[in-house]
Amino acid sequence: MKLIIDTDPGIDDAIAIALAHALPQVDLIGMTAVFGNTHVVQSSRNARYLADLLGFDVPVAEGAALPYGEVSYAPSDYVHGPEGLGDLMTIPQIGQNDPRNAAQFLCEMAAKYAGELVICAIGPLANIADAIALDPSFVTNVKSLVIMGGAFEHAGNVSPYAEANIIHDPIAADAVFGSGMTITMVGLDATMKTLLTPTDFDDLEKAAPKIGGFIKRIADFYLGFYRSVGVIDGCPMHDALAVLACTDPEKFTFQMTGIKVTQSGDEIGATVADTTRKPVAVAMGCDAVWAVDLMKTQISGLG
Ligand code: RIB
Ligand code: CA
Repeated sequence: MKLIIDTDPGIDDAIAIALAHALPQVDLIGMTAVFGNTHVVQSSRNARYLADLLGFDVPVAEGAALPYGEVSYAPSDYVHGPEGLGDLMTIPQIGQNDPRNAAQFLCEMAAKYAGELVICAIGPLANIADAIALDPSFVTNVKSLVIMGGAFEHAGNVSPYAEANIIHDPIAADAVFGSGMTITMVGLDATMKTLLTPTDFDDLEKAAPKIGGFIKRIADFYLGFYRSVGVIDGCPMHDALAVLACTDPEKFTFQMTGIKVTQSGDEIGATVADTTRKPVAVAMGCDAVWAVDLMKTQISGLG
């Protein structure tokens, strides 16, 4: 499977990128960076840092710095840390971004691998919306777009109605859901079923001292955030689950419905049913034990 990850790394993004690299059936051909958990310049720096740490080299194309319609953006650095990877500071600049911006890279790769390329978007959706606007054939060239985002029956995590990736760019998200792309939405309905505990991270560190130890270190920050909001003694495996929806959709249960994104008011960013739109495969559940075990097994093999 040819895969591009559109990402705002991001602690759970880092787990997703490591998992995608580890899965034998995935050919990760590139990453595109977007604002979200951190500023886009940091997102691309973190993506290249993670690729170097994991020992692979793929193009990283930098994309949107701002949400559609906004003139500024401030990351919630208390969730993923001041530079997006927990307590890591002064993350080094390794290599250079691809000369193409994210939308250009996405469109070129979708044309080159027409009908084959899967895109896994695990941050706000501005880069995807930009690609749709840049090249009309992008919508049909992409085999499928798997989004970590949204909340259909589950409560939101930024507001009672909205999940982070969607509320951080509701205009872009609505353009993507209304584009006619073949979309799978892996939202909180599924991801809140896959909780990682401190013991899971201890296991990763024991099995893979370098990569597992790195993930444990950055996850400690994420676990601290979730404890601080009294949610759980653990953290949801949001982004990594979206990667598994790319490779093993049969492990998920889906509801097919068109989706639109509320654009204003208290419910801004809500992902709600819209029967006038092309149906999206909305993940309502998954084999959570399988998902966590597979992530741990795969990443444990990275050393
Ligand atoms: O709501 C969870 C999503 O928001 C994840 O992608 C996480 O990395 C943040 O971007
Ligand atoms: Ca993310």
